[in-house]
Amino acid sequence: MARHVVLVGLMGSGKTTVGRRLAARLERAFVDADEALEEIADRTIAQVFAEDGERGFRAIEADVLEELLEHHEPTVIASGGGVVLSGENRRRLRQPSVTTVWLDASPAFLASRVQAKPHRPLLAGEETPRQVLERLHGERAPLYREVADLVVNVEPFHRDEEKPKKALAARIAELVLAHEAAHPLEEAR
Ligand code: S3P
Repeated sequence: MARHVVLVGLMGSGKTTVGRRLAARLERAFVDADEALEEIADRTIAQVFAEDGERGFRAIEADVLEELLEHHEPTVIASGGGVVLSGENRRRLRQPSVTTVWLDASPAFLASRVQAKPHRPLLAGEETPRQVLERLHGERAPLYREVADLVVNVEPFHRDEEKPKKALAARIAELVLAHEAAHPLEEAR
């Protein structure tokens, strides 16, 4: 059974950029779940939200996670920030064959970094990014905690490191390998 690594966390935490570097370090494939969703749905995330609402988006997001985790090739997956909202997704993320890493940071820090991109319709409403991220952090922190094998606060890396993403990928690679060594799949089954 392939061992996958899934990065979870709010918009702006760096899942995609750190995930890409982590995959290179671990010599595993890399998939950005938002990009995979757009390919599978053959629509942009903005279109899916506009046409099917957030509910429709979440249903496709769950199908995409299921499909990605079924791949036989060990993969690092950068998930969308709301993947933990579904109980079924959380069950999948807690499987022994999946190492789930929560990239955490304060809402203020995330708001200072997050970019309002087309795939982020949740940032396009009346609230400021700071308000959205405060609200989502409150709602989702317990859910990220529930699924996380590893929790990494990204803020110190951005504060102290000249190349924060490189340093983060290196640290997370170490943590993932130690976690996998401590939890061999044969024992977990
Ligand atoms: C979402 C985060 C986005 C994207 C969608 C919903 C969320 O992904 O999946 O806009 O609910 O937090 P990123 O976290 O990669 O920006």
